[in-house]
Amino acid sequence: MEKTLYPLSEPLNGSIQIPGDKSISHRAIMFGSVAKGETIVSNFLPGADCLSTIDCFRKLGVQIDQQDTTVTISSEGFHSFKEPAEILDTGNSGTTTRLLTGLLAGSSIFAVIKGDESISKRPMGRVTNPLRKMGAIIHGREEAQFTPLAISGTKLQGINYTMPVASAQVKSAILLAGLHSESETVLQENVKTRDHTEKMMEQFGVDIKVVDNTIHLKPAGELHGRTIEVPGDISSAAFFLVAGAITPNSSIELKNVGLNDTRTGILDILQAMNATYKVTPQSVHSTEPVGTISIEYSALTGTTIDGSFIPRLIDEIPVIALMATQAVGKTIIKDAEELKVKETNRIDAVVTELKKLGATIEATEDGMIIEGPTPLHGGTIQTYGDHRIAMMASIASLISSDPITIDNYHCINVSYPTFFDHIEKLTTK
Ligand code: S3P
Repeated sequence: MEKTLYPLSEPLNGSIQIPGDKSISHRAIMFGSVAKGETIVSNFLPGADCLSTIDCFRKLGVQIDQQDTTVTISSEGFHSFKEPAEILDTGNSGTTTRLLTGLLAGSSIFAVIKGDESISKRPMGRVTNPLRKMGAIIHGREEAQFTPLAISGTKLQGINYTMPVASAQVKSAILLAGLHSESETVLQENVKTRDHTEKMMEQFGVDIKVVDNTIHLKPAGELHGRTIEVPGDISSAAFFLVAGAITPNSSIELKNVGLNDTRTGILDILQAMNATYKVTPQSVHSTEPVGTISIEYSALTGTTIDGSFIPRLIDEIPVIALMATQAVGKTIIKDAEELKVKETNRIDAVVTELKKLGATIEATEDGMIIEGPTPLHGGTIQTYGDHRIAMMASIASLISSDPITIDNYHCINVSYPTFFDHIEKLTTK
């Protein structure tokens, strides 16, 4: 369904509470389901992707009660999972698809996993290949390179594996398989990716050690339920960090933002682009640090984003590209070919759609080059059903000279159901 967004005549002001982190919400449901007893998750993200995860675990026989952002999971533990009578539908969620494949590979049940059209195009060989090396029995389309995947759970061996792609989903799938395997798993990352799985394993008392970029995981016994407080999602905050930085005279505050340093690449880039912002840590006790970020409209300059920065801000690249259209000079984004296998090909989508609004932007093999500053005009934007493209275009409408229409605003529910409420909160006096 279409939505037309009208240019803003005033600055953004005020404060919002950033909703729960998508990656951590998925993992909280998964670990709560694996653990025996009761797990209570607070500040859960009730976005469509995380609801797909809940739905899958309910089909595995786990009792899950979700009341908005509070989820109570009652489980008899990993070995009590029931063979689902239906296909496990992972919707639009790559995290659910890949992590669940890893977890179920070492179970004692048979299950079939499939998602939506976008999921059916995303590479699964990166997960099924190493899992098969651990002994997993997985069948699927094109030799299990794509969904649907049929998994016959079996006893697995640990693996010593160097990650060929920088992907936290692949890493986590292997770690979840390693959790119940018969020997130790050792994983090397060439470039560090988000470490929420490792942190949550530590929280649940699993014997996992991380030395530089190498992870050592010992097979675990029974996990026990606990409470999990999910921090706000910095990938969601990113849309408002950019909104504050590019909308003239704005000054806004974003509360409860997760500050795990495997995720804070956007803050380093804001600094490199000369944005005016301040981070105030909220709590230092949690394994997942949280803080408040305030940001003001700033004169921005172009920068280069590459190498080990990329996994630390991969989901923020669409909105960073928008920000770069307002910065003086050239912004070069490279080493980001992973963008091609996200919810849609985000190199093509970002370049095509920002061009429609008047941006000077060109695609490259592994990223894009943006020349700024350019005023943006209105237009009709195709979202490709990708939540982050839809939100990028919505933020563009705050500074465009004419209205912007987006073809499918519902896809925003995947990661940020309260996104438009938050725009409204920051735009009403
Ligand atoms: C995620 C990892 C990243 C990220 C995705 C969430 C996760 O994907 O883009 O939105 O929760 O582990 P990749 O592992 O494909 O890089």
